[in-house]
Amino acid sequence: MNIDKILAELTVEEKAALCSGADFWHTKIIERLDIPAIMVSDGPHGLRKNIDLAENPNQAIEAVCFPAACATACSFDRKLMETLGKAIGEECQHEKLSVILGPGCNIKRSPLCGRNFEYFSEDPFLAGQMAAAHIRGVQSKGVGGCVKHFAVNNQEARRFSYSAEVDERTLREIYLAPFETVIREAKPWTVMCSYNRINGVHSSQNKWLLTDVLRDEWGFDGLVMSDWGAVDDRVEGIRAGLDLEMPTSYGKNDKLVVEAVERGELSEAELDKCARRVLELIDRACDSARPDTEWDKVKDHELARKLASECIVLLKNDKGILPLDTGKKTAFIGMFAAAPRFQGGGSSHINAFRVDDAYSCSKEYTTVSYAQGYVTDRDETDDFLVNEAVKTAQAADNVVIFAGLPDSFESEGYDRTHMRLPECQLHLIDEITKVSKNVVVVLHNGSPVEMPFADKVSGIVEAYLCGEGTGGAVCDVLFGKVNPSGKLAESFPKKLSDNPSYLNFPGEGDRVVYAEGQFVGYRYYDKKELEPLFPFGYGLSYTTFEYSDLHLSHNELDSDQTLTVEVTVKNTGKVFGKEAVQLYVADRESSVTRPVRELKGFEKVALAPGESKKVVFRLDERAFAYYEPLIEDWFVEYGAFDIMIGASSRDIRLTDTVYVNSSKRLPVHFDLNSNLGDIRQLPEGREMLERFMGGTDAVGGFDEADENMRRVSEAMTNELPIRAAVSFSDDPRITRDRMKEFIDRLNGIAGN
Ligand code: BGC
Repeated sequence: MNIDKILAELTVEEKAALCSGADFWHTKIIERLDIPAIMVSDGPHGLRKNIDLAENPNQAIEAVCFPAACATACSFDRKLMETLGKAIGEECQHEKLSVILGPGCNIKRSPLCGRNFEYFSEDPFLAGQMAAAHIRGVQSKGVGGCVKHFAVNNQEARRFSYSAEVDERTLREIYLAPFETVIREAKPWTVMCSYNRINGVHSSQNKWLLTDVLRDEWGFDGLVMSDWGAVDDRVEGIRAGLDLEMPTSYGKNDKLVVEAVERGELSEAELDKCARRVLELIDRACDSARPDTEWDKVKDHELARKLASECIVLLKNDKGILPLDTGKKTAFIGMFAAAPRFQGGGSSHINAFRVDDAYSCSKEYTTVSYAQGYVTDRDETDDFLVNEAVKTAQAADNVVIFAGLPDSFESEGYDRTHMRLPECQLHLIDEITKVSKNVVVVLHNGSPVEMPFADKVSGIVEAYLCGEGTGGAVCDVLFGKVNPSGKLAESFPKKLSDNPSYLNFPGEGDRVVYAEGQFVGYRYYDKKELEPLFPFGYGLSYTTFEYSDLHLSHNELDSDQTLTVEVTVKNTGKVFGKEAVQLYVADRESSVTRPVRELKGFEKVALAPGESKKVVFRLDERAFAYYEPLIEDWFVEYGAFDIMIGASSRDIRLTDTVYVNSSKRLPVHFDLNSNLGDIRQLPEGREMLERFMGGTDAVGGFDEADENMRRVSEAMTNELPIRAAVSFSDDPRITRDRMKEFIDRLNGIAGN
């Protein structure tokens, strides 16, 4: 396609037309210039391709449902994500889809967000890495990825209108960070903006977001589309860099765009930018199309099962109840054993090709008994079902209860109002634990639940929403064919009110104040020294791992150098296993508030019994930096950083320290209330202070000089204000006026 030529030939009306969809899923055809339409589709855990919009608007083709993001994130495995992405990419090629809408990498701010199952993590590093891997996989097959929902879409309540009120540091460090990773590392073809507003401005017309940050800072060169119906003011959207409105506005907004150009309110050059990017996407899609690609659904179903088994998290395993002994009598109890909840509701809902349930799949291992135990269409205890389940449990040696959230509890479109399982399921678990001491609970849920039963059962398996292969995957883990290796990608608080967003979720009116700032998930629980039920990064295995030989490439380095971190991990148990090794960085001393530790690296290693492997991490400047609004940039403050290697955020096995020298200097403005410690940022300032307090600075020497300096050093270390130096001094010549003079000189050096 000669895009320059086409652009020159297109009329304003045609350009405006190109910038919005033809229908729900297609771009517009411009026959006169041979511009074809391309089709996009949800996503992202499999295809939700409409059969026929006119006849069956809600009917999607049969497709393989892979594990949802809430589950895949727990794999801590980039390769797994890429494999999943590749499979989806091939399926798209077969179905002639050019872009798959996803993945979503919004941060899990509250366990209540109805769409948490579609998102990866409470941690921006993990979310960004997993989303990037997914997109790399999809795009390696010549199909476009679409990272969504850009940005700060962390709740479903009032999602079309609320304004997320977030300070810039929190935005950059938490909410934008995963998107930045995806843009820089995976170069997605497209980005989907979110429905909500950010600090008052709709994402769909937010120039700061869609152009200044996304394109100018991060170098995004693809297309931005709206979420479905997210456009508020289309003309403003074009100006801001929203290239494609989806779905169609039935010509209404195209007309407004044309009129704005005619009135001179919107320049044609601005419209051209958007039209060009639509053309570039169409061109790229047409060039990459491989319609002869085969789609072997049976093979992908097997893959879905395999991937699911790598995502499951073993949360509790007392008395070695798992893996289950096939020589003993096992009962499966709970409707989800026969009809699992394996995916979430809303736009990612897939017309699953084939669903494995655990009860049927258990036959691959042994014979188990089954009782339904509860219903899912309402939260009411059915005494008959409970009694039947109790009897079934009594007749078994081991009991596995399949519990979780029914569809109506969580979905796109609404949030949960509490973190509990249905009362009827809790009642069932209570009754079963009264008659059996060997109980395992398997959970199917898209987001954390409270677990009042945690102490009463021997085993807990978090299977999340693991796609259509879930039943087989759960059996593979329960019976020990697969050694579980998932780790939680989010903290499980003991109760909802422990969660940092509790007082501000979902907010009131049209504003949602992100008052907890950067302290989301484990960043908050660690800072507050609150014990979660299960911490971020936690997950058990049927084997054990030993960590040793932590080695850092430097004791001290400049922030623009790379730190290489090596650690050896050994499988010290009797079975093959995989371990997600986590690296956290902790700024030991900082002049701004920082989390206790932050995830900055993870690697998954596979180890045979007795085998050791060296795991290598590379940390760049960003691993040590915080976002400093004063310089509108990332900043590493000079000092000591602990490098922590952990099996979870609360199970740090090895720690070493590195000193990092800053490559940048902050503009500091001094006054009497400024922190004395800040003077350290100006080496000349420290010297000046010494001269000043030592009395050799124009005033001449005096006796208490040494004592003054000792006190001032102490005040510097303890981060006291400059005026402390005045009050510490016993010398009358050091007065407020003299100090002010000194401060003026400091500001002079600092360039103020
Ligand atoms: C969702 C998107 C989805 C789109 C198309 C919207 O309601 O927020 O995630 O891709 O619909 O179905």
